[in-house]
Amino acid sequence: MNLLPQILMCPPDYYGIEYEINPWMDTDRPADRHAAQHQWHGLRDLLEQLGARITLIDPVPGLPDLVFTANAALVHDDVAVMANFRYAQRQRETPINAQWFRTHGFRVEFLPEGLAFEGAGDALFCGDTLFAGYRIRSDMRSEQLIGEMLNCRVIALPLVDPYYYHLDTCFCPLAPGIALYYPGAFDHYGIDALRAHIETLIPVDADEARHFACNAVVVGKAVVSNSGSPKMQAALQGLGFATYDTPLSEFVKAGGSAKCLTLRLNGEEALQHRPESIVADRTSRV
Ligand code: ARG
Repeated sequence: MNLLPQILMCPPDYYGIEYEINPWMDTDRPADRHAAQHQWHGLRDLLEQLGARITLIDPVPGLPDLVFTANAALVHDDVAVMANFRYAQRQRETPINAQWFRTHGFRVEFLPEGLAFEGAGDALFCGDTLFAGYRIRSDMRSEQLIGEMLNCRVIALPLVDPYYYHLDTCFCPLAPGIALYYPGAFDHYGIDALRAHIETLIPVDADEARHFACNAVVVGKAVVSNSGSPKMQAALQGLGFATYDTPLSEFVKAGGSAKCLTLRLNGEEALQHRPESIVADRTSRV
């Protein structure tokens, strides 16, 4: 059995700031395509060095945000619950992503039309519970339906700051019972819900949150994030994690960073329940 962490990425060949659907994006502040390629490869190489296996989906002209594979779907065991993007600019990504999941052995599920949901960007397991961000990009009803579909508990968290429009920009499960979060992105009820369900919550300050400290990729005990979050890294090192950073400033211009550029295909480290099937080598089924 292949236990390597498997991660889906999309090369940034057609990446750019071509529209504005979150406050980070400004079409007058374009991304440098050459620098973006370089940064994307830096992230990919680092994840591979840490033991992840990277699987690619082909980039498509006219879909600059396809590079943010975290939004493609919520993957759990062999099920991929496809995104229903809030904005028309990203809606054409879904058939392309669905086709990829189908041909790679996943059971593809769709939510009812009109219910927004943006994949792993807004739905992250910590322990056996699915934490789900809603209000800005996903609807709470979508997340309730996913809970029924996957038969798991869902804690729905309203996102209150437009800069932290996806849950993965302000919350990062690291292991069962341990997560990073940026308190400024949640209301009191959200913070209380996080505290009630996660034993060790590590706060990130506003300055490091802006550098996407919470948008980290976890591979075993290694945590990979954009450059610029030394306090977060020191806190994680104190808990026994190994921290790595790599510059991703070209992607921050679109409101994304390390985690957004990846989608874990065989069970995040923070997921408690890891049935045999989710650690099996899925990409070899092609
Ligand atoms: N420009 C993209 C959007 O606004 C960025 C997506 C970032 N992805 C994420 N998982 N946070 O949709």
